[in-house]
Amino acid sequence: MKIQSAEFIKGLRGEDEILVDGKSQVAFIGRSNVGKSSVINSLVNRRDLARSSSKPGKTVEINFFLINKDFYLVDLPGYGYAKTSLEERDNLRKLIYWYLLYANVDQKKIVLIIDAKVGPTDQDLEILRRLSEAEKNIIIIANKVDKLKSSEKVKQLASIQKLVGQHKVIPYSAEEKIGVGELIKEII
Ligand code: GTP
Ligand code: MG
Repeated sequence: MKIQSAEFIKGLRGEDEILVDGKSQVAFIGRSNVGKSSVINSLVNRRDLARSSSKPGKTVEINFFLINKDFYLVDLPGYGYAKTSLEERDNLRKLIYWYLLYANVDQKKIVLIIDAKVGPTDQDLEILRRLSEAEKNIIIIANKVDKLKSSEKVKQLASIQKLVGQHKVIPYSAEEKIGVGELIKEII
């Protein structure tokens, strides 16, 4: 299956009819600046479909991208960016959890993106635990694997796998397009 077309539909900060229009949704979550928007761009082979930025906190809405006129890739705001005000961080956190757990959406897949070099943070593990409890269909992407020296790669990926338990982890680089084929297989 190939990705033939991709278009931005809308950004939400709450209830919307798009949530219940019957098309499946694949959601991308992770801490701020981990590369959610970049991973989406790497999948659809566009540089700028989802806006990415070296400045954290770029995505503040739940953005819906329609793929092949058939299903959505959903780009969420990141969590845990220390420089966002407490109030805004709290609002974003509520928005993320609402969409993932309480909006009555049965996401086809939730792609949790972690930083391959940093490994899963406490917040990553907390979100993973809550999603697992809710029996969501989860896959983990260890992004920015291009930043790891080949000598440390095997060890670091094994340590990530140990921390996240039985979930599948795909080593990935949005920048160098590593893992793209494998992720496409998982979500289409
Ligand atoms: P927020 O929307 O702020 O939560 O960020 P995000 O998770 O969408 O991250 P974004 O895609 O904007 O990328 C953040 C930064 O990481 C940018 O400077 C990207 O160029 C960089 N980046 C993303 N993926 C990779 C990767 O695979 N390797 C490297 N080296 N850098 C990457
Ligand atoms: Mg983003």
